[in-house]
Amino acid sequence: MADTLTITDNRTGKTYELPVQDGTIRAMDLRQIKTGPDDFGLMTYDPAFMNTANCRSAITYIDGDKGILLYRGYPIEQLAENSDYLETAYLLLFGELPTATQLTGWRRDITMHTMLHENVKTFMQGYQYDAHPMGIFLSTVGALSTFNRDAKNIFDAKSRLLQTKRLIAKVPTIAAYAYRHSIGRPYNYPDNDLSFSGNFLNMLFKMTELKYQPNPVLARALDVLFILHADHEQNCSTSSMRNIGSSHVDPYSALAGAAAALYGPLHGGANEAVLRMLTEIGSVDRVPEFIKKVKSGEAQSRLMGFGHRVYKSYDPRAKVIKKIADLVFAVTGKNPLLEIALELERIALQDDYFVSRKLYPNVDFYSGLIYQAMGFPVEMFPVLFAIPRTAGWVAQWEEMLLDSEQKIARPRQIYTGAATRNYVPMERR
Ligand code: ACO
Repeated sequence: MADTLTITDNRTGKTYELPVQDGTIRAMDLRQIKTGPDDFGLMTYDPAFMNTANCRSAITYIDGDKGILLYRGYPIEQLAENSDYLETAYLLLFGELPTATQLTGWRRDITMHTMLHENVKTFMQGYQYDAHPMGIFLSTVGALSTFNRDAKNIFDAKSRLLQTKRLIAKVPTIAAYAYRHSIGRPYNYPDNDLSFSGNFLNMLFKMTELKYQPNPVLARALDVLFILHADHEQNCSTSSMRNIGSSHVDPYSALAGAAAALYGPLHGGANEAVLRMLTEIGSVDRVPEFIKKVKSGEAQSRLMGFGHRVYKSYDPRAKVIKKIADLVFAVTGKNPLLEIALELERIALQDDYFVSRKLYPNVDFYSGLIYQAMGFPVEMFPVLFAIPRTAGWVAQWEEMLLDSEQKIARPRQIYTGAATRNYVPMERR
């Protein structure tokens, strides 16, 4: 059997044979299908990219039906069990797990880049006292392009590596400063003695003590959450990173755009939305009433933290998170909203509305409960997502830059507006 697709255009009676590779046809191969010389050629119409591969990628693999997630071939469950965030970031960026020497060097390099220029601090102080930390985060990341002007040399491998290290290292510092700003406390400088997540907790929560001692259970839990959030192939923010990066702008500007995409409640803002939803429900006995409201489509309400464009089974990340929740709650005490979440999940997983639409808990359903138990305000949730996703964004950005098939991203449209018409003077309108 040939790996081809035969198409007959019933408008002309002509037949075309298109190659099929990796289960796809090339959209550009359709262009030859024309009704006449003036015809532009056939295009595909795919709002929201429901069935369009935009790149070839060797970074992350997802099987949404089976609930499988692999980073560079390694199952997410194994990485969550055995790795830490910095090692996973290395894996995503460079394709292989590091040797002991490589890992030591990588940790040292990241630790050396955690500090921000003092002017960044001054810049951040200009935000309103109640500014959303994600707004501060994404604009400050964008502002870093003005501090690292060498970053525009995107085809210089050495410069790319330097910006990569800076980005991975500095995003927790920006995130922590954004948080400290929002609560009106002085910013804490990084502590190079601590691990990546331990230092992050230090920058967030250190008060007047001389040395901050992160709780090892909470630091490890945060690190695992970072592993789970590090990449997720071509989602809304990652495809934004690739799209913006395809104009050959510097990575800080591209990453600011990716973070903006992550901010939305249908993406990284979902865990914030989950917490608000659980708070609004208020008690376990009100769960059935809420489910009824969701099913009726009333006020456009959705069961936040449920459903996924790709996963049509239980999100594998949600399974790992549910386990971590127990460890965290053993330290912090149970989050009172947990009972409501468990009841929501129990009812939804039995209800035909959710079952028939294959709606299962996603990564955000339980992560917010953990973050809240650890003392993070809900506004910090998307920021906590953006820190580890930086590794994925940068890995995907570099892969896009080095892919000889990629060009500036520029979708087509089907024009539905008025045909050419003459300007109408004001008095005749
Ligand atoms: N609650 C209730 N119904 C839902 C939900 C939900 N959470 N998600 C999807 N549906 C329904 C839709 O109404 C639709 O029903 P219909 O066929 O009767 O019209 C059907 O399921 C398919 O939904 P779509 O919106 O077409 O699915 P899509 O793939 O576009 O959306 C999304 C995926 C945005 C994640 C969606 O499930 C959603 O809004 N979930 C809640 C927000 C959320 O948790 N986002 C986090 C995603 S994970 C992440 O970004 C890290």
